[in-house]
Amino acid sequence: MGFQVIRTERLMLRPFRTDDADVLTRYRNDAETARYQSWPLPYTSEMARRLVTEMAYLDWPNDDWYQIAIDHDGALIGDVAVGRTHGGSMAEIGYTLAPSARGAGLATEAVRAVVSQLFAEGVHRVYAGLDPANVASAKLLRRLGFRHEGRFIQAEQVRGRWCDDDRFAVLATEWPTPR
Ligand SMILES: CC(C)(COP(=O)(O)OP(=O)(O)OC[C@H]1O[C@@H](n2cnc3c(N)ncnc32)[C@H](O)[C@@H]1OP(=O)(O)O)[C@@H](O)C(=O)NCCC(=O)NCCS
Repeated sequence: MGFQVIRTERLMLRPFRTDDADVLTRYRNDAETARYQSWPLPYTSEMARRLVTEMAYLDWPNDDWYQIAIDHDGALIGDVAVGRTHGGSMAEIGYTLAPSARGAGLATEAVRAVVSQLFAEGVHRVYAGLDPANVASAKLLRRLGFRHEGRFIQAEQVRGRWCDDDRFAVLATEWPTPR
C-alpha cells in the first residue's frame, strides 16, 4: 500500500507526483538549503525525476527511505524523509522546506504530523541527526519535544567537510508533546 495522505491545519502530506520534479530540483539546488544535506550538487532534473517516480510507487511502510511531499495550497513546498531501522521499530527523520515557505511553522506542522503517524503505526523511537550549526533544524526538533541526546564528534562528512553530529530523539511514550 502507498502512503496515505495526511491533512493538517494548513498542509497536505502526500506521496510525490511526477509533476513535482521541477520544484524539487529548484529547492535542492539552492545552496543554503543544501548546506547541511548530502544530496549531490548540482541536483539535476533527471535525479529529481527519478526520485519522485520511485516515491510515487514505493510502499509505505517499507525498509527504505521514503520522502513525503509537503503540499501547501496545492504547491509542493518541501518534504519529510523517513528511514526505518531496527526492523521498523525506530525511524530516522529528515526534512526540507523551500526557502520561500520558511518562518511560518510549516515544517514543524509537517514533522509533527509525520511523527504522530509513525507512533500510531507502532514505531517506538524517532530520531534525527544534524550538524550543530543547523540552528533552524535544532529549534524545530526542540519545539516538538525532541531531546538532545548527545554529540558525535566529526562523525559525518558533508560536502567534503567533517561535521559533528547532534542526535535528537523522542519516544512513543513521550508523545504527543504540547503544541
Ligand atoms: C530546517 C528547516 C525545515 C526549518 O524551517 P523553518 O521554517 O525555520 O521551520 P518552521 O517551518 O517550523 O518554522 C519555524 C519558524 O516559524 C515561526 N513560526 C511562525 N508561525 C509559527 C507557527 N504557527 N508554529 C511554529 N512556528 C511558527 C517560528 O517562530 C520559527 O521562526 P524562528 O526560527 O525565527 O523562531 C529549514 O531551515 C530548512 O529546510 N533547511 C534546509 C534543509 C535542512 O537543513 N534540513 C534539516 C536537516 S537536519
